[in-house]
Amino acid sequence: MSNLIAIDETRLLNELNTLATLTHAEPADNGTAVTRIVFSDDDLRARTWLKELAVAEGFEIRDDAVGNIFIRWAGTEPDLPAVATGSHTDAIPHAGMYDGTVGVLGGLEAMRALKRTGLRPRRSIELVMFTSEEPTRFGIGCLGSRLMSGTLDPARADNLQDKDESPLSAVRTAAGFAGPLASVRLPANHYRAWIELHIEQGPLLEREGIPLGIVTSIAAPAGYRFTITGFGGHAGALLMPDRKDALCAAAELILSVEKHALATGAIDTVATVGTCDVHPGAVNSVPSRVVLQLDIRDTNPERREAVMQAVRRDCDDLRQRRKVTIVEELVNADAPAQSSPHTVQLLEAICAEQGIACKKMVSRAYHDSLFMARIAPIAMIFIPCRNGVSHRPDEYASPTDIALGTRVLAQVLAKLTSE
Ligand code: GLV
Ligand code: MN
Ligand code: MN
Repeated sequence: MSNLIAIDETRLLNELNTLATLTHAEPADNGTAVTRIVFSDDDLRARTWLKELAVAEGFEIRDDAVGNIFIRWAGTEPDLPAVATGSHTDAIPHAGMYDGTVGVLGGLEAMRALKRTGLRPRRSIELVMFTSEEPTRFGIGCLGSRLMSGTLDPARADNLQDKDESPLSAVRTAAGFAGPLASVRLPANHYRAWIELHIEQGPLLEREGIPLGIVTSIAAPAGYRFTITGFGGHAGALLMPDRKDALCAAAELILSVEKHALATGAIDTVATVGTCDVHPGAVNSVPSRVVLQLDIRDTNPERREAVMQAVRRDCDDLRQRRKVTIVEELVNADAPAQSSPHTVQLLEAICAEQGIACKKMVSRAYHDSLFMARIAPIAMIFIPCRNGVSHRPDEYASPTDIALGTRVLAQVLAKLTSE
């Protein structure tokens, strides 16, 4: 591996550790707990810190109206479409310190490493830090890349509300990002290539003892919100035969989702009800209204839709039997993405040259790359993570694997920028 571009591993790991301190998560005894919700104080501090690192390197910086950050190393032919890399630094509640951050700080280090070699890139190289890859605050993931790729209507985006019913328009303006969201969109030829480094978030690389994954496709996610309304009242006085308990109906709906996702028999079908808001949420009150958020994904969107149809049939049955209303709202239903065969080939060639074992694989997690694929040829580099764990404080990627992923990223950026 001696020919791979050298990186400053110590500095990169220190930066990952520093970023992990920008959180208010309750500490965990099994790892580093990180919560960094979009436009929270921690998110804003992380943005300022990242920009300082980029300025120190002499890179140019720009933000767009939704707060996506672009860190640019101008090429010798700056008018050519740039080559871009990046990921996100927001983190879901009580998550770990590597999801997204490895792609942002690894991307920055890859650019610095290329600069240290004396390279003068032909195409500009851009590092992008996307706003709200995680859906925590506004209920939909990949806000920044959806807007950038023209996948999400700007007016709809600005009306998305957080738990306090503050719309994105107000929240982003307060965070210092003004201007029309329509201006975030980039044309299809804006980037020559897009490549994202990320932890696998699954167990396969570690299990097979392979240090590097090359993503060939990204599974298709969808999100739905179900509002179930029944009839509430006093937990002591409301007689059992008279009840229309919304939470009991919700429980059946959750189990219906699990049953039909399992029934496809496909390992690629996954469905999760991850939130359940109960109104009024008092121990001595029969739940009158429940809101569930469903996350369902598949490599095959038709199979994903078939699961939803089966769930809808069960909803009809629940409405009849339990005398509740159930309103289904679509949050997003996305198509899968394919990587660029050319970039995949470049990555395979780098691995072959350097004697690095690699595996072509599907990403079951979604990433901003899913949306960047609509405006640029994409690929992703995966590195192993311990026990396949992610979105938890015990998420862990080894320094060796982080360094290798970053070096391969630097190498492929060097190739792409010269093309
Ligand atoms: C991204 O965080 C995902 O949920 O896949
Ligand atoms: Mn994540
Ligand atoms: Mn991520």
